[in-house]
Amino acid sequence: MKKLEQLYEGKAKKVFKTDDENCYIVEYKDDATAGNGAKKGTILGKGVVNNRVTNHLMKMLEQNGIPTHLVEEINDRETIVKKVTIVPLEVIVRNVAAGSLAKRLGMEEGTVLKSTVLEYCYKDDDLGDPMVNEYHIAALGCATPDELKQIADYSFKINKLLGDYLKDAGIELIDFKLEFGRDVNGKIILADEISPDTCRFWDSKTHAHLDKDLFRRDLGGAEEAYKEVLSRLLGK
Ligand code: TMP
Repeated sequence: MKKLEQLYEGKAKKVFKTDDENCYIVEYKDDATAGNGAKKGTILGKGVVNNRVTNHLMKMLEQNGIPTHLVEEINDRETIVKKVTIVPLEVIVRNVAAGSLAKRLGMEEGTVLKSTVLEYCYKDDDLGDPMVNEYHIAALGCATPDELKQIADYSFKINKLLGDYLKDAGIELIDFKLEFGRDVNGKIILADEISPDTCRFWDSKTHAHLDKDLFRRDLGGAEEAYKEVLSRLLGK
């Protein structure tokens, strides 16, 4: 497949057209941002880790009945994905209080939630991705009620599959963010990435951060932690 012109450059990825009208190529960058672009930096090797970890986890999810945009990894940083129109929502799933939820509800980070929390944020950088509920989503026309039900069902299923899978690698899945898209047939499929950029991964024993919080909070050691996740999941 031939890589054609760049369609879009985001904070962590570039997207290119290809000579197949139903496919794009995604290229993962080492650029890191936090606080809606307020903090900028580089995590060396991050693009490689996120590309490979995302594809590894999406393959596992596909094998367990979750449709994804993954087509084929072409090299360390680039992957062919199905063309989708992104549903403009960040879907956040939480098992343990951390980050913005801990702050908003006055909970200590690390408190296990009595039940799983699902949140939606409206993807709009200018507005700072505000949290929305089902009523806002219907009013904005982001997704139909049936689509949103499908998205919620997939999100809970992904939480169970990922949580169990990561446990075997000594990683606790604290929370994570998903994005979904509509494929050429209008079917909802999982898109974007599943990586230390978009998930909170804690070491099961020590509760050490193995994710982007190391960068967001200036804790140091992000490069090593990303590599550690890659090696625990893919063995290299
Ligand atoms: P939060 O606690 O900052 O709301 O983040 C919840 C989870 O969602 C965390 O795993 C990081 C992820 N996330 C993203 O991937 N992108 C974002 O823009 C935000 C706000 C969170």
